[in-house]
Amino acid sequence: MKCIRLVILMVLASILTLKAQENNLHHQSSTYQWPSEPDVRAKLDKWQDQKFGVLIHWGVYAVPGIIESWQICSEPWIERDSTSVYEDYKKWYWGLSKEFNPVKFNPEQWAQAAKDAGMRYMVFTTKHHDGFCMFDTKQTDYKITNGPFEANPRANVAKYVFQAFRDQGFMIGAYFSKPDWHSQDFWWSKYATPDRNVNYDIRKYPWKWNRFKQFTYNQISELMHDYGAIDLLWLDGGWVRPLETVTDEVRAWGAAIPEWNQEVDIPRIAAMARKAQPGLLVVDRTVSGPYENYQTPEQTIPDKVLDHPWESCITLGNAWGWVPNEQYKSPTKVIHKLIEIVSKGGSLLLGVGPRADGTIEPEEIRVLNRIGEWMKVNGDAIYGTRVTAVYRDGDTFFTQSKDAKTHYALVCLPENKDIPKTVEWKGNLPKKGRKVKLLSTGTNVKWVLEGDKVKVTLPASILKKEKYPALAFAF
Ligand code: GLC
Repeated sequence: MKCIRLVILMVLASILTLKAQENNLHHQSSTYQWPSEPDVRAKLDKWQDQKFGVLIHWGVYAVPGIIESWQICSEPWIERDSTSVYEDYKKWYWGLSKEFNPVKFNPEQWAQAAKDAGMRYMVFTTKHHDGFCMFDTKQTDYKITNGPFEANPRANVAKYVFQAFRDQGFMIGAYFSKPDWHSQDFWWSKYATPDRNVNYDIRKYPWKWNRFKQFTYNQISELMHDYGAIDLLWLDGGWVRPLETVTDEVRAWGAAIPEWNQEVDIPRIAAMARKAQPGLLVVDRTVSGPYENYQTPEQTIPDKVLDHPWESCITLGNAWGWVPNEQYKSPTKVIHKLIEIVSKGGSLLLGVGPRADGTIEPEEIRVLNRIGEWMKVNGDAIYGTRVTAVYRDGDTFFTQSKDAKTHYALVCLPENKDIPKTVEWKGNLPKKGRKVKLLSTGTNVKWVLEGDKVKVTLPASILKKEKYPALAFAF
């Protein structure tokens, strides 16, 4: 019986994964405003050099292995165990905190795996929409330091996660959800919770909403003061935004929009946060303006080059958090995405979800390692690069070094096929007399111009490798 229930739960979980991807994606703002502060500009430039990061979703949802937070929301697209009453389901979900005991908590393993994959910045979910805090906040008891893990010397997990990645030289990002469905000042149990928004009329209860604003301010203040150096504050839940920013474009994204102004005063929060963390990047997703320092299209890659900072966040599996029987993307697929993103001027933030015990699945580590093997020898064509006038010719993508002295061509090879004897591309050709180096072997290759194309002959040594995600050339 238990077994059947488990199977049903697992099937439901995978359906939900797919559903969730369609319905709760954050879109991309169509305008961008460059920050004016020199220290923010400097950090942004440094961030643009990193190119490859990890977005870690970890919270109570890892206990049963379900989609992060969304199942306690009552929007029509959300499916859950149909036999339970909504309010009972919420109670069950909140109660997961009593079972969350990550006794094998191992942020050093996470940081090592990310480093080995070639990642250079990280973003960690300090609090998702469900309100469960992965840091020792003083503003609520709904937190990892109040439950079975509380006596553990590393119970204040966010602190140790950030430290483990800092020790590996990463830029550090705090994910923070502006909506908080556990807070009585966001979802007040006096009323039903029909959608993702504040469920009472803020115009009627301004004192209540002000309390929520202060709560948000205080939580972010804790994160900015007590957790060491932070480079970016990644604010999720774009529907919590000033009413005047709800344009027709935002309405067209389709999420329910309330009549009241549910905004938490990001300018005030950002001023406080930047005092504590000079140059901090604030990424107020989809709220275009001075606090969306880079854009964050989700699960997609923009069609063309964008001349402002941006990052695609894409899951390694299908879900953000850990779910059982996850299907991971192949290393080749991830590398191809990274190449396309970087050639268009963006960065890839890859989603990884540790299990409830505090470790990352071996299969996930294996994929990350394989990505890293490629990054180790081809990284010059990725890190610290900028866009070129011609960024693409079919499956070949181009980048250039920041000083524009070196150009790179990245030829994406079809998955699971042998390496061809020659490759060719148009559009970004080596100048006469230039040497063309194959990064994976470190050797110069033979090349000729044929009309508007360059044709490169590959050395036998690389031809012996059975499969290879992409060839990178420097010239
Ligand atoms: C979406 C999802 C949210 C997830 C985020 C990560 O906004 O709604 O659950 O954390 O994407 O990018």
